[in-house]
Amino acid sequence: MKKMGLFVLACAVLLSGCRGDRSTKPPIHLNPNMDWQAKYKAQSLPLDLPEGVVAWGDRTSFSKPDSRDTYLKKDSAFYFGKLPSGQFVPRIPVKVTEAMLKRGQERYNIYCSVCHAQSGEGRGLVVQRGYPLPPNLSDERLLTVEDGHIFDVITNGIRNMPSYRKQLVESDRWAIVAYVRALQKMKTATVDDVPESQRGELR
Ligand code: HEC
Repeated sequence: MKKMGLFVLACAVLLSGCRGDRSTKPPIHLNPNMDWQAKYKAQSLPLDLPEGVVAWGDRTSFSKPDSRDTYLKKDSAFYFGKLPSGQFVPRIPVKVTEAMLKRGQERYNIYCSVCHAQSGEGRGLVVQRGYPLPPNLSDERLLTVEDGHIFDVITNGIRNMPSYRKQLVESDRWAIVAYVRALQKMKTATVDDVPESQRGELR
């Protein structure tokens, strides 16, 4: 009986030792079995793609860019701004809506205006502190480049300008292209661009 009492006491002491203490170390794992082995987990990206593997599915419009981007991207105009021939698409390959322009304005002001200024003229805050001066986005040459070229500049950067592919999914890049076109229009539009019925509202 005395032995039994000691045993119960020992158990109580041992158990109480496991309570209340915090530790950053993982719990002791008495039987590891095969818990820590190199393996693929369901729904995770593979580390090395087997040869000949074919991607499937496409990113939905506003989902996050991911660093190991394995989507199929069959629509070359939308994903690369290029025709199957490799030439830049002349025009934005999706319908431009007011919501898209708003999104473009917001993204432009976040990601581009720091260098290009909200006006597109190019003396943004980062440039005022010494970054190379970008061209005015309403320069003659940039009025005539293909929409696909501007998309490509955002995707891959150009000379002194870094790439923004990680920050901006394709749909956002096109939204910005649409907004850059709107900025250019603001600089170059004439009275003739205003519908006759609305000219009376001009001051
Ligand atoms: C860190 C500063 C910086 C940011 C941010 C930036 N740019 Fe630029 N951008 C530049 C510079 C500098 C150049 C000139 C590159 C050169 O010719 O060396 C340039 C050039 C360009 C050009 C002209 C390319 C050509 O054909 O010569 C376009 C169009 C452009 N940027 C659009 C954008 C858009 C759209 C964004 C936002 C997604 C953006 N930039 C963000 C610095 C920046």
